Amino acid sequence: MKIFTSKSDLKSYISSKKEEKKKIGFVPTMGALHQGHMSLVKKSVKKNDVTVVSIFVNPTQFDNKEDLVKYPKTFEEDVKLLESGSCDAVFVPSVDEIYGENVISERFDFDGLEHQMEGKFRDGHFDGVGTIVKALFKIVQPDVAYFGKKDFQQLQIIKKMVEKLKMPIKVKGMPIFREEDGLAMSSRNTRLTPAHREAAPFIHKTLKKARKKTGTKNVKEIIEWVENQFKKHPLLELEYFIIADEKTLQTAESFNATKRYRAFIAVFAGEIRLIDNVRFKNN
Ligand code: PAF
Repeated sequence: MKIFTSKSDLKSYISSKKEEKKKIGFVPTMGALHQGHMSLVKKSVKKNDVTVVSIFVNPTQFDNKEDLVKYPKTFEEDVKLLESGSCDAVFVPSVDEIYGENVISERFDFDGLEHQMEGKFRDGHFDGVGTIVKALFKIVQPDVAYFGKKDFQQLQIIKKMVEKLKMPIKVKGMPIFREEDGLAMSSRNTRLTPAHREAAPFIHKTLKKARKKTGTKNVKEIIEWVENQFKKHPLLELEYFIIADEKTLQTAESFNATKRYRAFIAVFAGEIRLIDNVRFKNN
């Protein structure tokens, strides 16, 4: 596996692969890789001739300095995992290599997708994500890029960006990978205290129970029910739970049989902020 730290070296590698008419698959990550990331790599390796993974903890998408500083970094293990997953190249740029002196985001208009949920609670987050993903797409020029559905809003926003910028890239959303107890895999899970780690599967359990209530309760009642579950929980603090139209991400007031819905949640487990989502059946 090739390891690149320079944009120009990676670009030359990509050009040579493009000349050979190779199809490029790309998995952007912030490292601290787990089986969720590796499922994206596996898919890319299966469907493309060349798989490139980037590892870059992007400062502009963090609204919380401490979260940025404490973001887990496990580069050596990541490289081993990627090698065992038959990844062809990994791009590990420095902040300077990507941003130069101006570590700032470009401003994006994602047609309102950015104003909901993570956009509301994490100031500037999606401008940061848009900035880095656009930059990485320009360097890697992938045919297909893979993103996990745990960050469902991010996935929809990147699809929107690619559409608006007319980038010739297919953006694929991949299923959420879960631990055996249902906790959505996340690099941040390693930072949970043992007690919070034990408590965290409650998030997915509650989402599943809430989904079952669509036949008997309306949207408002389901939201109230979820909020009450968390009020009673001693270790988990709910930041938001919403049910939204899967396409527009607009909050649903009621279920409409012609639309698809998804429930989205953000929860603090001590200092660690966890997000998850599940598809909701409408009624
Ligand atoms: O999902 C992530 O890990 C990051 O937001 C991404 C897409 C790699 C951009 O920094």
